[in-house]
Amino acid sequence: MPRADQVLEPTSDPAWVLEQVGYDALRDSSRQSRFTVSNGFLGVRGGRTVNRQLHGLGTPYMLVAGLFETIGTDQPIPGLVQVPSWLRAHLSTPAGVPALHSDDSHIHRRTLDLRRGVLLTEGRLSSPSGLVISVRVLRLVSMSDRSSGLQLIQFEIEAGAGEVTLQTGFDGLDFGLNVDRLDEDRGVWHTTRLSHRLAIADLATLTLDGATIEANSLGPFSRAWKWHARAGQILWFERMVAVACSSRDVDPIQAVETSLHKSRTLGSRNCVSRHEAAWTERWRCSDVRVEGDPGAQQALRFACYHLNGAADPGNEYVSIAARGLTGNDYHGHVFWDTEIFLLPFYSLTWPEAARVLLMYRFHTLDQARAKARRLGYRGALYAWESADTGAEATPEHAIAADRQVVDILCGTLEQHIGADVAYAVWQYWQATGDEAFLRDAGAEILLESGRFWSSRAILEGDGLCHIQQVIGPDEYHERVDDNAYTNVMARWTIRRAIETATLLRSRWPECWSVLAGRLVIDDSELAQWSTVADTIVTGLDVATGLYEQFGGFFGLDPIDLSQYAGPSVPIDVVLGRERTAASQIVKQADVVALLALLPDEFDASTAAVNFDYYEPRCSHGSSLSRTMHALAAARMGSSSVALSFFRESAEIDLGDTKVAVDGGIHMAALGGSWLTAIFGFAGLSLLPAGLGFEPQLPSGWESLSFSVQWRGRQLSISIRQSDGTLDATLDAGEPMLIVLCGKQHEISRAGETRTFSSRR
Ligand code: BGC
Repeated sequence: MPRADQVLEPTSDPAWVLEQVGYDALRDSSRQSRFTVSNGFLGVRGGRTVNRQLHGLGTPYMLVAGLFETIGTDQPIPGLVQVPSWLRAHLSTPAGVPALHSDDSHIHRRTLDLRRGVLLTEGRLSSPSGLVISVRVLRLVSMSDRSSGLQLIQFEIEAGAGEVTLQTGFDGLDFGLNVDRLDEDRGVWHTTRLSHRLAIADLATLTLDGATIEANSLGPFSRAWKWHARAGQILWFERMVAVACSSRDVDPIQAVETSLHKSRTLGSRNCVSRHEAAWTERWRCSDVRVEGDPGAQQALRFACYHLNGAADPGNEYVSIAARGLTGNDYHGHVFWDTEIFLLPFYSLTWPEAARVLLMYRFHTLDQARAKARRLGYRGALYAWESADTGAEATPEHAIAADRQVVDILCGTLEQHIGADVAYAVWQYWQATGDEAFLRDAGAEILLESGRFWSSRAILEGDGLCHIQQVIGPDEYHERVDDNAYTNVMARWTIRRAIETATLLRSRWPECWSVLAGRLVIDDSELAQWSTVADTIVTGLDVATGLYEQFGGFFGLDPIDLSQYAGPSVPIDVVLGRERTAASQIVKQADVVALLALLPDEFDASTAAVNFDYYEPRCSHGSSLSRTMHALAAARMGSSSVALSFFRESAEIDLGDTKVAVDGGIHMAALGGSWLTAIFGFAGLSLLPAGLGFEPQLPSGWESLSFSVQWRGRQLSISIRQSDGTLDATLDAGEPMLIVLCGKQHEISRAGETRTFSSRR
């Protein structure tokens, strides 16, 4: 068990910590996002909690996965509830409130210990009466018991003497839910929306030299302790909290009692140890190590930290929001970000988490069917923005960056989500070989998605199938026909649906007959799907190899984006929405996304022609864009181009130049960093017989090492730049094949490490 103050020491290796010194009110909100601790159920933003002005700028809050309340009356949509932070602690003396001295600001430090999954802060307060108190704080939400949170504070009286009061509590208890019960240390609320119940219980103690100081209750969750401070004293404050919600726990009231009882019995240091052990396991499965490029190393650790903190393998009824549990932008809604940018990380490093994320889509399949039906199609089309029930949650209007109220058409027209979910299901199946999932859930998603696209694409007079009136990933252009991304992904989805039918029929005929019977799929329908897939328009101009992003794109105004380089204002604000829509300026990777996601569908020269054409036309008006360019470039072997996109993408959440992350960190950009390293620079591909690698490390990366899982096996991979070798260790599981640059090698037993050369 660690010594009490040892837990307050951050990991000494700088590659494992993110540190910020001093306090900057303007950047604080962004930093709160970045320094969030989360465990897939609870996310607590990284705001200061000791002697912070109550309700001051950027009051920290907590998000609870699945706890949605209806927001807005004119367009009622679900939004994640901002639950007040339970971390407030306030010191005062009869002479006034000890304050942070500006001379001391360098001592104020916030350290996110990525390895241990804890946030550590330290600072020093001075009172008008001459008391100087140093404060060190640890906070965590537990990775071993997701209901539980812990705050430990050490107060050291460095100078002076006199009476001190410590008052603790929540940052307000009126947060818009209906109160069922509010006692000294227990609270129960419910939402109006789905009557979800939230229960919170806490327990707090203050000790001086091992002796407990009696607390006075000041009301629900609020307590005060008084003592006579003297130089040399060290006080230890512990607060344990348990949070449960009916979005996860059948009986939240019982769940908080069980969790709090467990924490109390274990004691705070054991709680820390168990939490750390759970993080150690996560890092064993998912750490990525880069030698030779500390910036890239930091970006990848930061990405893996937030990816590991965003998922909860114990809950099939929630998914990961665009900002995870780190902030409230997009109200906690789930987009294609999860399936396209995040799922690969989970499928290959944490299959249990990937599975529940896909089960969330399975549980919302009826809503997807209803949406397809409402729009006049067959099969299933997922919500563009999804929340608790899976019903479409995209707002119908919003205030654009130029302060104009605009209609949002994505909820109806941005339909590629119907292929993105299928893509993730198939990729999970390829990576894990999880037959039970495919039979019980995945196949139905694939078949219903394939059926949707087969009804959505309409045979026209030219003998080809067209998909009219959509929005592709490039949202600057609305109501377009034959968006290349949508159509090619639709074709891919239909083909995977047919492959699923064939597979089920041959391998599990009984399962197929039940499913085909229930969904009423027969051979003639499968034949119709096949015809659609074979005749769908893709936008490919065979003469040039270029894919037209949508019908008519090549005829739009070819505005030269480089003329507008510099301002950080989005280009649709600079030019106005109409002018942007009439131009070839693209919001984010669209055709380029196809190159990144379906590399096998494009030969090298087609990929290069399209990348070179679309890349200068892209304004990167979405945080998803640069990382997709990085992945596409890396897969095409342009490592230096890929590295520069990779760095720019990492800057979105780690850079301090723009203050754009108040509403949470960008999960898709982080997932994209992992994808660029593993699928891009290591060139990983999922082959039927094993894992393929085509490494292309960027210059400066001496080595790239990581762990992956493939169909029940665990592997450690290490690629060295200098001699072009790849070490593969089969840590656990059956023999398997590694295909390095097209050459097959077998690893025949667990524990074996083999070194292969990628030089031909
Ligand atoms: C992007 C979408 C993305 C959403 C959430 C939008 O700005 O255009 O592609 O899914 O943000 O990240």
